[in-house]
Amino acid sequence: MEEKISQIQKDYLEKIQKTKSLKELDEIFLALFGKNGQITLIPKGFSRIAKEELKTLAPLFIAAKNDLEKAIEKRRKEVREESYKALESEKLSLQGDALEPRKGHLHLATQFKQEIIELFEKLGFYQFDAPHVEWDKYNFEYLNIPRDHPSRDMWDTLYVDTSGLEVEPGQMLLRTHTSNFWPRLMEKGKTPIRAMSFDRCFRYEAIDARHSHTFNQFEVAVVGEKITMANLKFLSDYLLKAILGKEAKSRFRPKYYPFVEPGVGIDCLCVFCHGRGCKICSGTGWFEIAGAGMIHPNVFKSTGLDPKKYTGLAWGFGPDRMLMIKHEIEDIRYFLEGDLKFLQEH
Ligand code: PHE
Repeated sequence: MEEKISQIQKDYLEKIQKTKSLKELDEIFLALFGKNGQITLIPKGFSRIAKEELKTLAPLFIAAKNDLEKAIEKRRKEVREESYKALESEKLSLQGDALEPRKGHLHLATQFKQEIIELFEKLGFYQFDAPHVEWDKYNFEYLNIPRDHPSRDMWDTLYVDTSGLEVEPGQMLLRTHTSNFWPRLMEKGKTPIRAMSFDRCFRYEAIDARHSHTFNQFEVAVVGEKITMANLKFLSDYLLKAILGKEAKSRFRPKYYPFVEPGVGIDCLCVFCHGRGCKICSGTGWFEIAGAGMIHPNVFKSTGLDPKKYTGLAWGFGPDRMLMIKHEIEDIRYFLEGDLKFLQEH
């Protein structure tokens, strides 16, 4: 019996020392102290042992039992400590190794802006961005759109609430077009002007797939001596061919804008059906893309330039619409929403 006890003690102390996990230790504990565990079963044979012998055997057994219990407890602590240490040196990575690092890119509208700006810089145009929150005079009055004139209805305007400020009501607004940049420049009196702006505009629009309260416009203005409609035609074809391909060409239609005379609506030959008529151009073979014209003499007068000496042209369009056509984007709202799928696809 004595030998058996010391054998169990020796074997299990070794096993305990080799364990690597709490689970292994639990298994050893059960094998020793469980219902039918090796240590549990030993006292059951004591009744068959002589009292004298038991006097030495019992303390030996108790010592072995305590020894094993303590060894298990000690190893438990060590295993725990080791696992904490392992955690410390472990690097937490939420990205699987198999994932490629994700590359970002410029927003479609930003890429387009850079492309167009570069195109016109080649022709000597410079950028001039006017404020988004604008005075009525630059957005309307200097542009031959007097107060209370019905032509104001062409723009659904967002006015700024100026109560509490020393500003007459209705004088401050969110600019409805980029056209506010040219009276600002003309007023400075430095001619010739050859400027452009690609920037945000705002309108009080009911939002749907084709309308948004916030959108981009690109606009050029040229003021100088002997500027004519021929220049306007050249610039239209120059831009369209560069962004839609060599086949693209423009068509002028008479159109009313208060700040130009004559005013034109510019159509572009549909690059998808080459003028035959398709879904994208609603069967007409052309799609309307821009508004333009020769700057109205009243704009010269109100900004202090002599309309007998100078003429000018202005040309504006909505790049968001153009991108929608080019990339078959169905909803203008994608331009303002951070929809990840859209951003990744374009
Ligand atoms: N500003 C006009 C608009 O927003 C577009 C335009 C620009 C028309 C320049 C003529 C000349 O509708």
